[in-house]
Amino acid sequence: MNLLTQEPKAFGLDISDLSLKLAMLERKGKSLRLVSFNQVNIPPKVVKHGEIKNEKKLGEIIREAVSKTKGKKIRTKYVICSLPEEKAFLDVIQMPQIPEENLKEAVRLEAENYIPLPANSVCLDSQVIRPLYDHVKNMEVLVGAISKNIADSYIETIKLAGFRPLALEIESLAIARAIVPKENKSSPPLLIIDFGATRTSFIIFGEGSVRFTTTIPVSSQGITNLIAKVLKTPFKKAEELKIDYGMRKKEIFETVIPPLTDLVEQIKTHLDYYYSHAPKEKNLIENKTIKKILLCGGGALLKGLPEFLESELKMEVKLANPWINILKEPLKEIPGLSYKKSLEYATALGLALRGVNGA
Ligand SMILES: Nc1ncnc2c1ncn2[C@@H]1O[C@H](COP(=O)(O)OP(=O)(O)OP(=O)(O)O)[C@@H](O)[C@H]1O
Ligand SMILES: [Mg+2]
Repeated sequence: MNLLTQEPKAFGLDISDLSLKLAMLERKGKSLRLVSFNQVNIPPKVVKHGEIKNEKKLGEIIREAVSKTKGKKIRTKYVICSLPEEKAFLDVIQMPQIPEENLKEAVRLEAENYIPLPANSVCLDSQVIRPLYDHVKNMEVLVGAISKNIADSYIETIKLAGFRPLALEIESLAIARAIVPKENKSSPPLLIIDFGATRTSFIIFGEGSVRFTTTIPVSSQGITNLIAKVLKTPFKKAEELKIDYGMRKKEIFETVIPPLTDLVEQIKTHLDYYYSHAPKEKNLIENKTIKKILLCGGGALLKGLPEFLESELKMEVKLANPWINILKEPLKEIPGLSYKKSLEYATALGLALRGVNGA
């Protein structure tokens, strides 16, 4: 416990398969502001499905991205880095009421039944959370896990880049910190969808905590590849068409309908799975159904996507606002980083929020 010294300030670093983003926030009086940010592409095969395949190369890319950051030069050595959602395990388990000091060990024993990884090769963390339903005897514990090899390789890469990892955080927790309004943490549960270049993650958030996450292979780059194939056009042109017209042009609409219908089906399946874990009668009485979806990640910017999901799923679908816990005023633009671009920065901004001391 730090009684006299504060945690050092850190910048947020979001490592994906094909790009990395960094962000640093600073406190100014009572408010926060973005002081540094950057995004660079990562060549294929350096990171694959969240696994770092070339630590040295990635270390160099990180070092270069930090040295050329936009805005203020980054002087801190400390980093809060994301861990890949697709390689992580996150779920809520029920535990009998036990004293806090025994919790970690009890969860470790219990988690063997839930986590598909051998107990001795896993990094495990747990936290008691507010229950979604009143339990007579049990408490609800959020368990996060990732293989030690993966965590070690992120730590090693950050060190090779010349920085110190202050914390590693599973991506969904960072996203939720950025886009779920702080004062709103006890509103009805939400489904967050992070639609990225290489995969899509579903994050269920309720009673102030992430409760369940899963990742599926529908991806925004996959959609570009499909447009390129169907319209017989180079990838670069297909990417332009996707960004300029989205679902508002007939040929593109017809091309992207199959993967987006797949996305809708997967959303329904995961919502069903989530509901199947809740006591049915309580669901109705306590009104814990998910009525709203928040979209983030660059793929969420596909024109017409929120409307399409809304009509297919019959629930409210909105683009997230990653500035909601950073800026006092609901500004739409920030110098250098547009509101649209910031949807790709949701993870980096969530990590940066953790790095700004006590935010
Ligand atoms: N206006 C837009 N319309 C449609 N797609 C867009 C738009 N802007 C960006 N994208 C897509 O967003 C994707 C990048 O999103 P993002 O930065 O969230 O992914 P990532 O974090 O690098 O990848 P991942 O999270 O899958 O590892 C790209 O595939 C890009 O084509
Ligand atoms: Mg991402």
